[in-house]
Amino acid sequence: MSEHFDVYGGARLVGEVEVVGAKNSVLKLMAAALLAEGTTTISNCPRILDVPLMADVLRSVGCEVEMADDVTRITTPAELSHRADSAAMGKLRASVCVLGPLVGRLKRAVVALPGGDAIGSRPLDMHQNGLRKLGATSTIEHGCVVAEADGLHGAQIWLDFPSVGATENILMAAVLAQGTTVIDNAAREPEIIDLCTMLTEMGARIEGAGTSTLTVEGVDALHPTEHVVIGDRIVGATWAFAAAMTQGDVTVTGVDAHHLDLVLEKLRLGGADVTTFDGKGFRVVQSERPRSVDFVTLPYPGFATDLQPFAVALSSVCDGTSMITENVYEARFRFIEEMVRLGADARTDGHHAVVRGVERLSSAPVWASDIRAGAGLVLAGLCAEGVTEVWDVFHIDRGYPAFVENLNRLGARVERVTAEPDRVAAG
Ligand code: UD1
Repeated sequence: MSEHFDVYGGARLVGEVEVVGAKNSVLKLMAAALLAEGTTTISNCPRILDVPLMADVLRSVGCEVEMADDVTRITTPAELSHRADSAAMGKLRASVCVLGPLVGRLKRAVVALPGGDAIGSRPLDMHQNGLRKLGATSTIEHGCVVAEADGLHGAQIWLDFPSVGATENILMAAVLAQGTTVIDNAAREPEIIDLCTMLTEMGARIEGAGTSTLTVEGVDALHPTEHVVIGDRIVGATWAFAAAMTQGDVTVTGVDAHHLDLVLEKLRLGGADVTTFDGKGFRVVQSERPRSVDFVTLPYPGFATDLQPFAVALSSVCDGTSMITENVYEARFRFIEEMVRLGADARTDGHHAVVRGVERLSSAPVWASDIRAGAGLVLAGLCAEGVTEVWDVFHIDRGYPAFVENLNRLGARVERVTAEPDRVAAG
């Protein structure tokens, strides 16, 4: 059986939508639970496929994981396995985040190379170099990262690029290293702050969360905690773009609007009326055709690479021409080929895309290549004449809890269609 979405064009989204915990936070927080023996409770977890996949990864090293509603309870035993090579490892990128905690706790780890979205080259050199600085050896053998140390010691680490994943792995090893670790050019994403908050609740000593310099004073052991995941700013931004593209009026709750300062400013420049509610959410009202704006993806607080497909989708229906520059994941422009099927006037040259807005897109069968590209195609379908079939929607299900239900509640018409294999369109 294969699923696709039928997206009916011509919708105007109006109403309120609640955003739950961030995918890019919860998976890392689940990995952090490995650092402390006992039961760690994480709430406000999104109901997306990646959470049970990460639970399988944790089970494969000896944890018990229970999931009920939005709460995930992870019981970490005294004796953990250092080998994380279950089938689930290959299905999500965040699985690599067990590397730091396992090295921190056990001083050795064998971690299968991760899977995840096909958005371009995703090396692990900075993760490995950071662990080496802390005193571990790190090699790639038989499809696994192998790391080993007699003991971990504090170190001064300069990252070539503020990588989110490398910052997380190094941080989670350094909290149990002896002495002081300084990570310079660290990632500043809100999800890094969330991780630092949880680690601090567990007894870690970290200064500088949310800045480019993280200072970690190693401790002997951490203890379990109860933690609430921050709201998903990428999902929140998806609704903001949806409001702008459909000339709608959408109020988004459950997310800190400050995490979207730049995004909301871009939408204002495009003509949206944006109101923010003191860290608790925001409202986007777009009463006429949006004007074109340029976008440049960069590490936070820059415009997130995860939002680039929405920038392209919005630009394709704007009045005017936009330049979109992708600085993080080059392969993300593959999304543009699908937008062209929908009638977008867009072309790329290296890191840049030029998109000339058209009055109306027109429906076509299109294929999601990753989570955000999939959601971007659904938003584009809402602005296209006719019924757009979006295929490979399992990608969307990995990042957006109740996406179809939420869209329909806001006034769209989107149907999930399950087809027999012989009726599936050729990809
Ligand atoms: C990245 C995004 C994050 C997004 C996630 C999922 C940035 C900075 N990070 O996080 O916001 O939610 O994708 O789409 O925008 N790199 C190396 N060597 C390494 C690690 C990374 O060269 O060891 C490079 C990557 O190829 C990439 C860049 O650094 O070009 C960013 O990587 P990183 O932040 O680690 O990626 P994610 O953690 O996946």
